[in-house]
Amino acid sequence: METVVSGIRSTGNLHLGNYYGAIQNFVKMQHEYNCYFFIADLHSLTTHPTPADLHGNVKQVLVEYLAAGIDPERATIYVQSDVPEIAELYLYLNMNAYLGELERSTSFKDKVRGNPDNVNAGLLTYPVLMAADIIIHKATKVPVGKDQEQHLEMARTFANRFNRLYNKEFFPEPFAFNFSDNLVKIPGLDGKGKMGKSEGEGNAVYLSDSPEVIRKKVMRAVTDAGPTADNQEKPVEIQNLFDIIKVVSTPDTYTHFDDLYNTCQIRYGDLKKQLAEDIIIATAPIRERINDIANDAPYLRQVARHGAIKARESASKTIKEVREIIGFRSF
Ligand code: TRP
Repeated sequence: METVVSGIRSTGNLHLGNYYGAIQNFVKMQHEYNCYFFIADLHSLTTHPTPADLHGNVKQVLVEYLAAGIDPERATIYVQSDVPEIAELYLYLNMNAYLGELERSTSFKDKVRGNPDNVNAGLLTYPVLMAADIIIHKATKVPVGKDQEQHLEMARTFANRFNRLYNKEFFPEPFAFNFSDNLVKIPGLDGKGKMGKSEGEGNAVYLSDSPEVIRKKVMRAVTDAGPTADNQEKPVEIQNLFDIIKVVSTPDTYTHFDDLYNTCQIRYGDLKKQLAEDIIIATAPIRERINDIANDAPYLRQVARHGAIKARESASKTIKEVREIIGFRSF
């Protein structure tokens, strides 16, 4: 069975877009691949979180992924910092990662531009740590979006360089992986592009949002003045709302509002009210599980320990061989 690795940023709650897109794929993948999903808390140190924030964020992410359907008995879900072998491999890979190539990385240049006062070495070597995350399990498939393509290319470079340096086909090459071609895309509520947390307040509905917050956000979604002729093409902000309805509501609801739109009788207030209620219903079980799991410290501890043990089994096997290959041999 092929091995899949994916790192999850340790900040930011899951929104509807994450849930219906990437997460549903993770949930399906865990039945078909040897999956390692981890919370990338070492990576997050580049932005210097406080200890309390760091822990709170990691917990929130773990809770939400479990609530959304990651099964710790199927996939290995773990916290990156619980697996020190990753940091060790990162150190070795750093010896063969060159300043020039690291400086040329688009994400590094973006971060330098966005935060010129905090250009630290961890930021520079972020792609090296990411390579270590992946090749520590000898993974070949990495389910990431376009924005991570360059990081994956660097991971292949570091893996190949190690193999060449020690003249051994040791690490396989990891590639970006589209598990499903028709990934469900949930648009945001701002009348523009897709749902995302960086798009501004109110654009995203989070799985942890209370029904009141969901209603407020949906009622403030951007709309237009309404159709002026029958069967008009919908402007993007209206189409966006219909796209969300298609995912969270019944087909009857979709047809009902589509007919009203096409006959110029639509009242956006009614549509939004219905949409908000349907989002609330669709996400209620997850919201409930989020609350249950967040309050179940023994379960969280058990999941984290179990994940760390499984991840370390695989990671320590690789590290043992790496040490041998490099020439760290016991007397
Ligand atoms: N860089 C990824 C992101 O920003 C997170 C990540 C860290 C990752 N290590 C990884 C993803 C390893 C896949 C594999 O989303």
